[in-house]
Amino acid sequence: MILVTGGAGFIGANFILDWLAVNDEPVLNLDKLTYAGNLENLAALADEARYAFVRGDIGDRARVDALLTRHRPRAVVNFAAESHVDRSIHAPDDFIQTNIVGTFSLLESVRAHFSALGTDEKAAFRFLHVSTDEVFGSLGPGDAPFAETHRTAPNSPYSASKAASDHLVRAYFHTYGVPVLTTNCSNNYGAFQFPEKLIPLVIVNALAGKSLPVYGDGRQIRDWLYVGDHCAAIRRVLEAGVPGETYNIGGWNECANIDIVRAVCDRLDAVRPRSDGCSYRERIVHVADRPGHDRRYAIDARKIESTLGWRPAETLSTGLEKTIRWYLDNPDWILRVQSGAYRDWIEKNYGGRNE
Ligand code: NAD
Ligand code: TYD
Repeated sequence: MILVTGGAGFIGANFILDWLAVNDEPVLNLDKLTYAGNLENLAALADEARYAFVRGDIGDRARVDALLTRHRPRAVVNFAAESHVDRSIHAPDDFIQTNIVGTFSLLESVRAHFSALGTDEKAAFRFLHVSTDEVFGSLGPGDAPFAETHRTAPNSPYSASKAASDHLVRAYFHTYGVPVLTTNCSNNYGAFQFPEKLIPLVIVNALAGKSLPVYGDGRQIRDWLYVGDHCAAIRRVLEAGVPGETYNIGGWNECANIDIVRAVCDRLDAVRPRSDGCSYRERIVHVADRPGHDRRYAIDARKIESTLGWRPAETLSTGLEKTIRWYLDNPDWILRVQSGAYRDWIEKNYGGRNE
């Protein structure tokens, strides 16, 4: 079996659902259930014998040690993290605690588990750390996309905490021989994404008749990858990646934020037109920029393609279509995640931003 951490979040939940759809191997999901963890994402697995959930913190050493001893997973896939840049700007503490201290503790548990395995189990064991392209910092307009060899230069508390965890993971390979794999992926979108991130925020705001906030001039560029493609890439790296290596994962889809927001509006105009006949684009408002906002991310994903044969299956257009369809089909999910805590966050992040 495999242990997945942070499996009740956006990417982790998609990963578990996809994994069980294509694999016989059972999954144990360890998740702390922060504001971002939502067991409803995994409701389809209620009667699934190959799936089990444990609520807990990756930084709880005794708890994780006991889980590893009891279940003897042949791999650990670490999604657990604080993941939202704006929250890291308002309150970095949890990012340091989970992303750095928590990952360190998890690595210590994994090191102890690994060292007690027999020769064959050791050869098969993998620790896969899911990370981000944000650790590389910001690119200029004419710069080459991030390759795996790009220097690390994180600019936000979030990306700095992820970079720190990536370094720890690397050190556990070089110093202790733990067979680690690290993936650095670009911006994901798809089903179950919490509506604090750009694409789901724009969809749910548009459907609720609210304004669509674009930070600054909206010309910041991100590379966008459909979450199902990311999950397929992680499965492939787990299957055939070389221990100690890092793999950049991207969609070959560089797009400015304003163009993403317009694309979401245009798609909604087609499938859920406004009753007044106007375009959703009319609700776009430019608001105060994010402090330290990275201007451009872009991924050179040739290594994973040439060495492991992975390429994204979705284009931005097909991925957005699927994503918007999912949000239209799941109004109850949207309603339930917009709890009091969500409203507090929206007030904190957008309340003070002038248009
Ligand atoms: P998310 O915020 O939706 O989910 C994070 C999950 O981790 C939640 O279920 C939460 O409850 C859990 N968690 C948080 N702290 C924990 C702890 N201490 N112990 C156990 N569980 C804990 O995040 P996501 O968007 O699904 O991202 C998953 C991973 O992928 C993160 O490591 C993130 O850095 C990375 N990543 C995300 C993106 C993206 O675009 N979302 C892109 C590249 C990499
Ligand atoms: P986000 O989804 O938060 O991901 P990340 O910061 O990890 O890239 O933001 C994506 C881009 O969209 C980023 O450049 C910030 C911008 N953005 C807005 O313009 N408005 C918003 O309300 C949000 C949440 C993000």
